[in-house]
Amino acid sequence: MLLLRNGTNYHRSEFVSHLKPISPIKTVAIWHIAFWHKVRDIIGRNTPCHRINAFVKQNAQRGDVPAILQAVDTYCRDKEWIMHLGQQKAERFSEIVQDCKPKVCLELGTYCGYSAILLGSMLPDDGKIYTVEFDKDFVRAAQELVEYAGMQEKITILQGDAGEVIPTLREKHSVDKFDFVFIDHHKPLYCRELKHIEAGKYVRRGTVVVGDDLGWPGSPEYDAYIQKSPSYQNTFYDTKIDMLGISDVMAKSIYLG
Ligand SMILES: C[S@@+](CC[C@H](N)C(=O)[O-])C[C@H]1O[C@@H](n2cnc3c(N)ncnc32)[C@H](O)[C@@H]1O
Repeated sequence: MLLLRNGTNYHRSEFVSHLKPISPIKTVAIWHIAFWHKVRDIIGRNTPCHRINAFVKQNAQRGDVPAILQAVDTYCRDKEWIMHLGQQKAERFSEIVQDCKPKVCLELGTYCGYSAILLGSMLPDDGKIYTVEFDKDFVRAAQELVEYAGMQEKITILQGDAGEVIPTLREKHSVDKFDFVFIDHHKPLYCRELKHIEAGKYVRRGTVVVGDDLGWPGSPEYDAYIQKSPSYQNTFYDTKIDMLGISDVMAKSIYLG
């Protein structure tokens, strides 16, 4: 085991689970948040993503990407907890992206578009992100935020189940290989999607795959897969979920071929 910055590098080692148990009080608090989210969505006939957009437009100028991202973080802090990457993880995420300097990227789980816009802000002018989102309302809201950020040329939002969209990327969008993949959608599906990405030969030697939330809620199958596969060199970073204060883990896996 080799220590890297504040990350821990496991390479072809024994499986180490990153799942971290959380206290019963936090579990109750999270269910409470989820319940009131649903109530608010039903009463207001909108989604958190639409409420985020209204707040962003009041607090950030069109095209001002740092201010837009900051407004989303402020919304999460002051109004309601939302499942975006969040400020703390965004710092670690940005370091990883800046290290690997990607051009063509895939994201699974768009939600409001926060991480796609953050990633887009670090790409060269001819960089491209394909981001996949299952929920049609979230897609509509994310499209609006992406346009407000002025990133519609760089970011293409694809509506559908990631497992069905990935195999169509080459034929429908002329994608050959990804330099960077961010997996941040339904945790039990992380491993299935990584296998789809490998089967579609969308990875090349050096492609960086980042998986979020391996500490909580956790994705045990994915966690085990990347650690046992000789095709990945993994670094695990301790992170925290904004506002909930829950310890989490983000994995960077470099595809070795
Ligand atoms: C944690 S959120 C993504 C947050 C986003 N990356 C950000 O930082 O702003 C997860 C998203 O994945 C979407 N999702 C869940 N299952 C999916 C699937 N099978 N295919 C595509 N998207 C999915 C959810 O609707 C949700 O919007």
